[in-house]
Amino acid sequence: MDKMAGPQVAQAQKWWGGGPRPTLGNDAGAYDEAVRAARAGELDADAAAGQLIDRMTDRELLGLLDGDSPRRLMPIIPLLHGRRPFVAGAVPRLGIPGIRFSDGTRGVVIGDSTAFPAAMARAATWDPLLEERVGQVIGMETRARGANYSASICVNLLRHPAWGRAQECYGEDPVLTGRMGAALTRGVRVHVMACVKHFALNSMENERFEVDVSVDEHALHEVYLPHFKAVIDAGADSVMSAYNKVRGQYMDVNRALLTEVLRDEWGFTGFVTSDWVFGTHDAVLSLEAGMDIEMPLRLLRARALPGALRSGVLDRATVERSARRILSTSVRHAATLEAAKPSESAIASPAHRALARQVAAESIVLLKNEHIGAAPLLPLAPTLTHLAVIGRLATHANLGDNGSSRVSPPFTISPLQGLREALPGVRFTTASGQNVSAAAAAAAAADTAILIVGLDQHDEGESVVTGGVEVGVLGRAFDAGPLRRMFVALAHVASHFVHGGDRTTLDLHASDVRLIRAVTAANPRTVVVLIGGSTILTQGWDESVPALLLAWYGGMEGGRALASVLTGTAEPGGRLPFVLPTNAAQLPPFDPAAKAVTYDNSWGQRRLDAAGHTAAFPFGFGLGYTTIEHRLLEHSFDETGGSAQVMVRNTGERAGSSVVQLYAADISLRRPVAQLLGFAKMTLQAGEEKSIRVSLDAGPTLQRDPVTRQWSPRAGEWALLAAQHSPASWAGAVPLHRAAGIDG
Ligand code: BGC
Repeated sequence: MDKMAGPQVAQAQKWWGGGPRPTLGNDAGAYDEAVRAARAGELDADAAAGQLIDRMTDRELLGLLDGDSPRRLMPIIPLLHGRRPFVAGAVPRLGIPGIRFSDGTRGVVIGDSTAFPAAMARAATWDPLLEERVGQVIGMETRARGANYSASICVNLLRHPAWGRAQECYGEDPVLTGRMGAALTRGVRVHVMACVKHFALNSMENERFEVDVSVDEHALHEVYLPHFKAVIDAGADSVMSAYNKVRGQYMDVNRALLTEVLRDEWGFTGFVTSDWVFGTHDAVLSLEAGMDIEMPLRLLRARALPGALRSGVLDRATVERSARRILSTSVRHAATLEAAKPSESAIASPAHRALARQVAAESIVLLKNEHIGAAPLLPLAPTLTHLAVIGRLATHANLGDNGSSRVSPPFTISPLQGLREALPGVRFTTASGQNVSAAAAAAAAADTAILIVGLDQHDEGESVVTGGVEVGVLGRAFDAGPLRRMFVALAHVASHFVHGGDRTTLDLHASDVRLIRAVTAANPRTVVVLIGGSTILTQGWDESVPALLLAWYGGMEGGRALASVLTGTAEPGGRLPFVLPTNAAQLPPFDPAAKAVTYDNSWGQRRLDAAGHTAAFPFGFGLGYTTIEHRLLEHSFDETGGSAQVMVRNTGERAGSSVVQLYAADISLRRPVAQLLGFAKMTLQAGEEKSIRVSLDAGPTLQRDPVTRQWSPRAGEWALLAAQHSPASWAGAVPLHRAAGIDG
C-alpha cells in the first residue's frame, strides 16, 4: 500500500550535529531544501536522502529505479536522444528532478553542440589537463540543455582495434586510459554528474548483447579494471553496466562485479544505471546485484517490481538501498555546484570551438616526415603556390560514427575548407579520388598533394540495431511466440543494413591504397592523412609516402586543426594511444561473431613485445617538427607509486612539444614487456632545456592475490626508462625499486 508521509515524518528522522533539528520543509521544496542543507553543512547527503525517502510513496520509490518514459517510446529513442534529456526517477511532488541523462563521449548529443575530436583522438593528446577542460565544456553544455547527468566517460580498454566503438575509448593502455578518464570526469562534474561506462569488458560491438567474456582474476583486475577504478577514485557519480556477460552472467545481474568489486573492494558509493533497453535482464535480480536504475524506459521493472515488493519477493531494504544511493549522490552533487546554470548561448561558443580546435591539433599524430631535397616535406613550404587536395574525405564533415555518441555541431570545417582558409594566396585543385587518373593528374600539376583517406561512419561505430537482443523486455507478448520470432528475425535482417559495427579489416579500403599509389607516383611531394578511430595498418603502401599523419575524427574544427599542423602554425602534438603493428596477426584474434571470448593479459604493444615483433609504429609514437631528448635524472618508487625527474631538451631549431613517457619492465625476461607508468606533456622553445616531475603509477608492476585481494609487487628485475614511445631496447634503464636518489 502506498504510504503517505508528511513533514512530521521528516522531522522524526535522524540528523547529525548538535544544532537545531533540520527539516526539509514543505513537500514541493523538499529536494531543493535537501540540497541547500547539504551545501550549508546542516545535513549530510545520506541523511537528506533518508528524509526524502521517508516522504515517498512506494510508487514514487519504485519510480526511482527505472526510466520515466513509457515503453511505447522505444522506437523513437534515437530521435528523442538528440532532443532532450531522458529522465529517470523525477518526483515532481517533492521537487526531485530525477536523473536527467545525456550522452556522449565527443560532446553533448542534445541539440547543436560543440563537437570535439573523438575520445581516441583526445587520448592521443596525452594531455589530461586539456581533457579536463573538454570535460568542463561537455558538462557545461550538458547542463545548459537541461540535463544533470553525462554518460560521456567511456573507459573500456582497446583490447582489439577492430572494435566498432574504438573511437569512444582512450586506447590500449590502462594508465593512459585511467588518467584521461579521470580528467574528463573531474571536468564534467563541475556541472553535472559523471557516468563511466561500460562496466565491464565491453569491447566488441556486433555481439555486445550476447557475448560472454571469460577472464581470469589477474587479467580482470590488473588489465581490464584499473582504469575504471581510477575514474571512480576521481569522483565518478555513476557507473553504467555493460550489455555483455562476464563469466556467464549478464553485467546487470553480475553481483560479483557490481557489488563485490565496485562497492566492497573499491568503495564506490554512487549509483549504477543499466545500458539502455536491452541491458536489464531481470528486474529483481539486477537490483539485488547492485544495478540501481533500469534505463531509459518503464520496461522490466515497471512490470515486475510492484508485485515483487508486495509479495515479499523483493525486500524493501533493497529498494531503499538503491533509492538512497540515487538520492544521496544527486543531492551531494547538486550541493557542490558552484557556477550558475549556463545559458544555451554558451553552447558551441567561440571559446568552446577554440578548445575543440586546440585539442584536434594536439591530437594529430605525425607518423612519417621524410626529407625531400633539403627539408622535410612538412610543414608545407611557405613558397607553396599550388596545392592539390584529394580524396572523398577531404570535403565532408566526418565526425565519427552515428551511434549514441553522435553530436550535431552547428557547422563542421572540412580538411579542404581548413586549408583554403589557412592558405588564402594558394591555388587549389581538388579531386574526389573516384577517378584515379584524374586524381593523379591533379597531383602532378600541383607543387604538393594532400591526400585524405580512411574511414567514416560506414566502416566502424556503434551498432544500434542488431540481432541477439532480449526482446522479452518489450512486453509479455514478446516472451515467446510469433511476435518474438518476428522481432528477432527483423532485428537480424536490419543488423545487416546498419552502418557501423566492428571492422572486418584493419586495412585501408583497396580504393584508397590504389589512390595512394597513383598520387605518390604522380607527385613525390604527397602528404597522406589518415582518418579513423583506431588502428589503420600502413604496411604495403607507406614506403612510397614521404609524409603520413593520423588525424582521427577531428571534431567540428578538425579541418582548421589539420591545416594548422600541415602549415606549421601548430605542432603535431599527438602520440599513438595504441600500437600500429605491421600485421593484424600480431594482435589477439578477433571474431566479431563470437558468442564467447577470453580476455587475457596479451594485447596491444605488450603482445608484440612478448612475441618479439617490431611494431610499424610503437605505442606512444609520434613525431614533432623539432627533435627532443629525454634524460632520467632521478626517481623514487615503491609499491604505492612514485615519481621521476626527467630533463627534457629541445635539440632542434623550432619550438615544439614532447610527451615524456616512463616505462618499466622486468628486464630479466628474454623479451621484456613495457608497462607505461607515467607521462607528462610539455612545450619547449628551440634549444630550451627543462626538467619535469612525472608521477609514476605502481599498478602495472603489481599483482592482486585473488584470495586475499591484496596487491603486491610482481617478481622480476624491474627497470625504468624515460622514452618518447614504448621502447624496443632497455639499454640505459635503471633499477625501478629504489628510494629517491641519483640515477646513472
Ligand atoms: C550505448 C551507451 C549509451 C546508451 C544511450 C547504448 O546503446 O551502449 O553507450 O550511453 O545507448 O544512448
